[in-house]
Amino acid sequence: MITIHNQLQQSFLRAIQQAFSDTSIQPALVEITHSTQEKFGHYQCNSAMKLSKILKKNPREVAEAIVSNLNLVEDGQPFIEKCEIAGPGFINISIDTNYLANRTQTILHSAKLGMTESHQHEKVVIDFSSPNTAKEMQVWHLRSTIIGDCLARLFEFLDYDVLRLNHVGDWGTAFGMLIAYLKEEAPGILNGTQQTDLTHLVTWYKQAKKRFDEDAAFKKRSQLEVVAIQSGDASSLHAWEIICDISRRAYQEVYDLLDVHIIERGESFYNPMLADVIADLESKQLITISDGAKCVMMPGFTNREGEILPLIVQKSDGGFNYAATDMAAIRHRVQEEKANRIIYITDAGQSMHFQMVFKAAELAGYLNPDKVAVNHIGFGLVLDAQGKKFKTRSSETERLVDLLHAAINKAKDILIERQVDMSEAELNETAKVLGINAIKYADLSNNRSSDYVFSYDRMLKFEGNTAAFLMYSYVRINGIKRKVGVDIATLKNSVTINLQHPSEIALALQVNQFDETLDVMAKDLFPHRLTEYLFNLAEKFNAFFRDCRVEGDPAQDSRLLLAETVATVLKQGMNILGLKVVDRM
Ligand code: ARG
Repeated sequence: MITIHNQLQQSFLRAIQQAFSDTSIQPALVEITHSTQEKFGHYQCNSAMKLSKILKKNPREVAEAIVSNLNLVEDGQPFIEKCEIAGPGFINISIDTNYLANRTQTILHSAKLGMTESHQHEKVVIDFSSPNTAKEMQVWHLRSTIIGDCLARLFEFLDYDVLRLNHVGDWGTAFGMLIAYLKEEAPGILNGTQQTDLTHLVTWYKQAKKRFDEDAAFKKRSQLEVVAIQSGDASSLHAWEIICDISRRAYQEVYDLLDVHIIERGESFYNPMLADVIADLESKQLITISDGAKCVMMPGFTNREGEILPLIVQKSDGGFNYAATDMAAIRHRVQEEKANRIIYITDAGQSMHFQMVFKAAELAGYLNPDKVAVNHIGFGLVLDAQGKKFKTRSSETERLVDLLHAAINKAKDILIERQVDMSEAELNETAKVLGINAIKYADLSNNRSSDYVFSYDRMLKFEGNTAAFLMYSYVRINGIKRKVGVDIATLKNSVTINLQHPSEIALALQVNQFDETLDVMAKDLFPHRLTEYLFNLAEKFNAFFRDCRVEGDPAQDSRLLLAETVATVLKQGMNILGLKVVDRM
């Protein structure tokens, strides 16, 4: 079903075209926004001011002409209750209460909450998480994982064909030195007689690096290892597999805790395509040699001195690099995967890299920006209370998974402090949900382009804009349903929603703006749109529950259904954020 916003957009476009007998007036001129204050109504149309300049007419007269040409009824149903012109020519709009009630009813009764559009033939590739093999996952990989999973869930809910890709840094010259080092210092790892974990691997990696810099003979052996892997030498490839496996197990621990599912398609996947990509770029005359390296030079990408920044795709030693792999990846995603949209999620520091890859791909003909949309979603840093880059521990080894466990443990302490009446198993399960939800929500509710301050205390609060507050509202609705004790499924078949009290109407309006919120988020890819929406929904629910009696009131059944719709939207919204709900807390 069409969103209220889009319906208004259409109704006002029609009215404007009629008022000025001009069908060439473009939809872009129609500006519909949410009302800034409840007392002004639900929405407002700000087009009269813009139009008055074009038509050289008084804006209030323009507004009056629009309103008198406006159809208040849509599809035989009263849609707009009233319009009022205010100030220089704002048109304040109130939606018909019955329209809101009926629309709420549709949301309640449909599996997809009234969303009927299908995008199954539109493919969205989302490149996220993407840690680096033989290194610890960094806090920013956590951000990428949480934001990426949320965007993937959004597009999945909107019925797109979504491909979640983990572009793991699993290839490159660094593996040569690690393999050479393990062969000498820990052969048991490579022949399977000794087990280890990522923490040890990272230590060996650091030692290998040190030896590489100090010992020329070791450096030579490492370089030979790189040649061996790249030429497909079985024993070297096996060693590489083992290293990848150890790393993979560590990441998987994080993904399991976060309940994130993603297909691993690391840099190594594109290795067989690299030589061809470079040859192709050469044949298209896009390659310039600079200091022995093969580069793509593009106007518009310059450093501080105003010199053109090269996109290096092959180093002077012949090695292919990160950018070469991304060129192969974008070509593969467009040509083989048939993506309609590709979204990359990394820290904002890589933004220049992606803009250059996008441009180079366009020049090479891999990407037609009119057909395939590419977005780099950059995000800010995670900071500690002192405003410094966040570290999971002060000691040298940082494990992301410890940070998740710490949140879960703190959540458990809070539950114990609140003296919840739960079995040990339920307590642990609830603490896990609460802790992980808190981490995710804290990340998603911050405007992703800014840095955010990581604070266990703040993210685990039960009030304010937190995951626990949303969960609490959800639990509260379930409590009301239990208390009244009527069967919701039966009610759904026999009762229709009827809105009377202003708090009831305000809540229903909010419920009806879920689809609009998702629309906006699918365009600009800002998850905090949804957290803000859900926070407002929970607050409006609390206001409704404060102002409107449910149990025993003549409107009891209708109000229960309204509450049930809120619970459904809350749960679905939280699901898109990657949050779980509990029945009690
Ligand atoms: N592994 C990279 C890093 O940790 C992130 C990869 C992002 N995706 C991509 N296609 N480059 O910095």
